Amino acid sequence: MAQKLTNTAPNRYPGIFRTMRARLAESRGPDLGGGDLRILSFGCSAGFEMLSLRSYFPDASLFGCDRSADALDRAKRNLREDAGIVFYSTPEAIEAFGPYDMILAMSVLCQYPASSKVDRLDTLFPFSTFAGLAGQLVSSLRPGGLISIFNGNYLVSALPEAGLLTPVRSPLIHTNGFIDKFAPDGSRLTQSFRDKATIAHKAVAGGITDDDLRDCIYEKGTWGVAIDVDFLPKTVAGDVNFGDPRLAGGIAVEDALRKGVVASGRVERAGQAADGRTVVESEWRKTRLDGSVTGFGTWQTVASAERAGQLTDRQRAALAVTNEKTTRKDILIERLKSRLPF
Ligand SMILES: C[S@@+](CC[C@H](N)C(=O)[O-])C[C@H]1O[C@@H](n2cnc3c(N)ncnc32)[C@H](O)[C@@H]1O
Repeated sequence: MAQKLTNTAPNRYPGIFRTMRARLAESRGPDLGGGDLRILSFGCSAGFEMLSLRSYFPDASLFGCDRSADALDRAKRNLREDAGIVFYSTPEAIEAFGPYDMILAMSVLCQYPASSKVDRLDTLFPFSTFAGLAGQLVSSLRPGGLISIFNGNYLVSALPEAGLLTPVRSPLIHTNGFIDKFAPDGSRLTQSFRDKATIAHKAVAGGITDDDLRDCIYEKGTWGVAIDVDFLPKTVAGDVNFGDPRLAGGIAVEDALRKGVVASGRVERAGQAADGRTVVESEWRKTRLDGSVTGFGTWQTVASAERAGQLTDRQRAALAVTNEKTTRKDILIERLKSRLPF
């Protein structure tokens, strides 16, 4: 058993799902392989990951496996209107439903939060367990298939199969999670901690690279340099008069640099195109282990004024009312009332 907590959420990894879909569209064509596309959610928990994948891959054959009886039961109920199959996770069962074109092992190959509190991980969750599970998943993947490992306690680059796996990157891929990383001997490589809404890492030993803290999608059997999936339009509207950049998510790299941590932040700037349309340009920027800063490429979207943060007075007033009506006290009273039998 790897991760014990069954925490999950709908559409938890949109950047990863979009990048995997874009890469599959390149390799399988615009129908993404139709029903022949076989996807495994390893550690599916209550099935939200499968339901999210359904909206990215409408025709795929979806499978989900888990070791928690309660999670499997919830997944079956949540998937009652979906053709996806959930099963108890054993090497035999994984093989029986494989091989797969895509496997997701998201927040599974770890022991959290325990791993954030120990100096060594070898007793709690040895590398051999991580490597055994990851190795089985890689062998269940078809040649050319994609595997995503997010929030793993060990490095994919340390796996015996690493030479088989080519990283797939895009401007949306900026981190492989908030979990602390350990060397194969169980010694600690990084210490992560929460900083506002996102997670920052600090290296506490050598032997880890910036790519080890970013890569989370790999293609099986395509050796060579990393594959860049450049599917987000850099320019959608010609010349745009952009305003000042603002932090739209994560940590400002200037703050991360000052604190000496590795962390990323999404910077946005909005502007008006000559034809009057509103355009938002975004980029993930990240600090590196050597104290420099990198950007993973910009993309532009034609956006509504609201998406660009430009609200009318009436819209601001509506949001002020919303805030007034949804205080912590209001929420608790409503929850209590909904449980009363009359
Ligand atoms: C934190 S949840 C992640 C759920 C989902 N993948 C997500 O990211 O939202 C981790 C899940 O992995 C499951 N798990 C742990 N060890 C497993 C194993 N060997 N095979 C399959 N699932 C496992 C747990 O029972 C739990 O439901």
